[in-house]
Amino acid sequence: MKNILVTGGLGFIGSHTVVELQNAGFHVIIIDNLSNSKIEVLNNIEEITSKKPQFFNIDLRNKEDVKHFFNTNSIDGIIHFAASKAVGESVNKPLEYYENNINSLVYILQEMKTHTISNFIFSSSCTVYGQADELPITENSPIKPAESPYGNTKQIGEEIIRDTCKADNLSAISLRYFNPIGAHESIKIGELPIGVPQNLIPYITQTALGIREQLSVFGDDYDTPDGTAIRDYIHVVDLAKAHIAALERLLNKKNKENFEFFNVGTGKGNSVLEIIQKFETATNVKLNYKITNRRAGDVTAAFADVSKIQKELNWKNEKTLNEALISAWEWQKSVK
Ligand code: WQD
Repeated sequence: MKNILVTGGLGFIGSHTVVELQNAGFHVIIIDNLSNSKIEVLNNIEEITSKKPQFFNIDLRNKEDVKHFFNTNSIDGIIHFAASKAVGESVNKPLEYYENNINSLVYILQEMKTHTISNFIFSSSCTVYGQADELPITENSPIKPAESPYGNTKQIGEEIIRDTCKADNLSAISLRYFNPIGAHESIKIGELPIGVPQNLIPYITQTALGIREQLSVFGDDYDTPDGTAIRDYIHVVDLAKAHIAALERLLNKKNKENFEFFNVGTGKGNSVLEIIQKFETATNVKLNYKITNRRAGDVTAAFADVSKIQKELNWKNEKTLNEALISAWEWQKSVK
């Protein structure tokens, strides 16, 4: 049984990926420092799969702790989610973002080299494209200057991985996520934003539940059919399954380059107002919202060309936007 290390494995995307890894027969070891996740998620994962992942509460900024972990655990592959990811926060705390997101990555790559672990999957983001010149966005779309330190850490991270794979003959895949939403069908794991949600869907579900007074729609003066910004919203379980497909490619040595990258989305875009309308229809809940000014750093539209991941990894999304929105609502109602 292959041992797969999942850093940030108690987080939103990480926990859903751990479930799919266990379902696919892998032995999962989680490293998480609980800075943006809850230890209860470990039991929730076990409730879903009847298998409790091994868990280590390690801060990946601690080089000695990272070294000790790899000296005492045999790892066949790594999926690296652990990172700070709030775009707005990163503008105010750049050095915290560079220390956490870059140092941690370097320490893990150093151990991969020491222990010749050659299967690495990096959690990246469509943010690296900024406002793409052409839509849908392909992997050949130019990488634009990052609009935030968070986005810059993803760009720099990919460059560090590319250089390392070339120099040390390692193999890695970077998955560039579009907008992950929803929750596992068991409603035992889902998104747990700490404080005021930054992302649209948790803000919608908290408003629908009355936790938030009103949703602000950040701008309706974009160059889109209804004036609100367009994004590619992908069910988090579909996104999790893309990691299994990427891991199988690496483990079976099917990758054609040392470093490959893939967009992970549905290939379809929806505006904020469309999302609100679909949420209201799917849940029969009227949403209280108002139009406000644009949010700094937001792009007009971003949705993926998914032909490369479909062809190379034989993966495509299976769940509908409706399923994602309903699961997000069911999850919100279940969270205490
Ligand atoms: C979606 C749309 C907002 C909140 C970010 C990161 C990206 C990835 C996903 C990590 C935008 C609008 C939002 C609100 C709103 N994260 N909105 N009112 O900004 O596309 O992507 O999260 O990998 O890297 O950049 O997602 O959910 O914040 O916003 O109108 O209260 O909803 O303007 O158009 P975003 P989001």
